[in-house]
Amino acid sequence: MDKLKQYNTFGIDVSCRSLIELHSVDQLTEYLQSTDGQFMILGGGSNVLFTADIEKDVLLNRTSGIDIIHEDERSVQLRVASGENWHGFVSWCVERDYRGIENMALIPGTVGAAPIQNIGAYGVEIKDVLDEVEYLDLSDRSLHIRSNNECQFGYRNSVFKGELKGKIFVISITITLSKTSTPTVEYWALKEYMQGHGINEPGTKDVFDAVVYIRRSKLPDPAELGNAGSFFKNPVIPNTQLEQVLEKHPEAKHFPVDDTHSKLAAGWMIEQCGWKGKRVGHTGSHARQALVLVNYGNAQGRQIADLAREIIASCKSEFGVELEPEVNIL
Ligand code: EPU
Repeated sequence: MDKLKQYNTFGIDVSCRSLIELHSVDQLTEYLQSTDGQFMILGGGSNVLFTADIEKDVLLNRTSGIDIIHEDERSVQLRVASGENWHGFVSWCVERDYRGIENMALIPGTVGAAPIQNIGAYGVEIKDVLDEVEYLDLSDRSLHIRSNNECQFGYRNSVFKGELKGKIFVISITITLSKTSTPTVEYWALKEYMQGHGINEPGTKDVFDAVVYIRRSKLPDPAELGNAGSFFKNPVIPNTQLEQVLEKHPEAKHFPVDDTHSKLAAGWMIEQCGWKGKRVGHTGSHARQALVLVNYGNAQGRQIADLAREIIASCKSEFGVELEPEVNIL
C-alpha cells in the first residue's frame, strides 16, 4: 500500500494499492498490456476528494514537454504534454508574452486536466485558446485527436467528463496563443486591480500579476491549508427560476449565461446560508471564499463530503437550487 496524502491538494490521508509514476505514453501502453484493470490516473490531485482507500494502482502523470508547432509574427501554436504543471506552463507563456491564458494563472493541477473540466478564471476558459486534445483510449490503446468543437465544452464541462469519463488518458493539448491581442480585463476584480494600480493599458504580465494577487488574497494555498479550489459549480438556472430567487432575495448575485439562463454565485448562496468561515470538526467553508471547502489538518474525506451534503441541503431549502460538486468525490 502506498500513501496518497501528498498527491491530493486536500491532503487526505488514504492509501492505494500501488503508486506508479508515468513518464511517457509508451510506459502507459506497456502498463495497460498487463494490468488487471484496477487503476486510476491522477494529475495534480487538485480536483479530487478521496473518501476511502483506493484499492487500485494510482498512475501519476509525470509526462513533460512544451513544443512550438508553428510560429509567425501574430501567433504561436504550442503542443504541451499533459503532465506539465498548469501554472508553470502559464508562467512560461507569460515570460515570452504569448497571450491568452494569463487570466488562468495559479490554477492548480496539470495541463492534461485543463480540457477535462474546461478550466476557467477571470473571464477566460481553456476552450477559448484550445485547438485540439490528443488522447489514448485506455481500452484498446488507440490514439485519437479531438478538435475543439468535438470536445463538447461547456461551463466546467466537456466530453471527457461525459461519455469518455475514465476511459481515456489525455496525452497532450495543442493551443494557439496570440502575440498581438489585448488582454481580457472585463472581470470586476481585474478592473478594480488595474484602477487601483493606475494601469490604463494592461499587458500580459500585468494581468498575470493581478490574477496571482487576487487569487492569493482570496483562495487558500493548498500547501498551507488543504483544499481543491471551488468545491461546487456555480449553478446555471433558467431565468424563470432566477426570478423566483430574486423575489425572495433581490440582492442575489447572478450573471447572464445566454438569453434564457443565468449563473447564480454559489459562494454567495453558501454565505447567505451561514456557512462561510464556519468550522465543522476538521473541515469547513473558507472565511474568504465560501465556495472553497478546507481540511484544517486531519479531516477525513467523508467528513468533507458530509459537510458538502449539508451545504447542498441548506442551499436547496433556502433557494430551491441544487448545488453540484465540481470536485470528483471518490
Ligand atoms: N461571493 C460571495 N461570498 C463568497 C464568495 C463569493 O458573496 O464567499 C460573491 C462575490 O462577491 C461575487 C460572486 O460571488 O459577486 C462571484 O465570486 P468570485 O468572483 O469570487 O467567483 P466565483 O464565482 O465564486 C469562480 C470560479 C473560480 C474562479 C473565479 C474567478 C467556479 C466554480 N469558480 O468563482 O474558479 O477563480 O470565478 O473567475 O466557477 C475553481 O474552479 O476552483 C475556481 C477557484
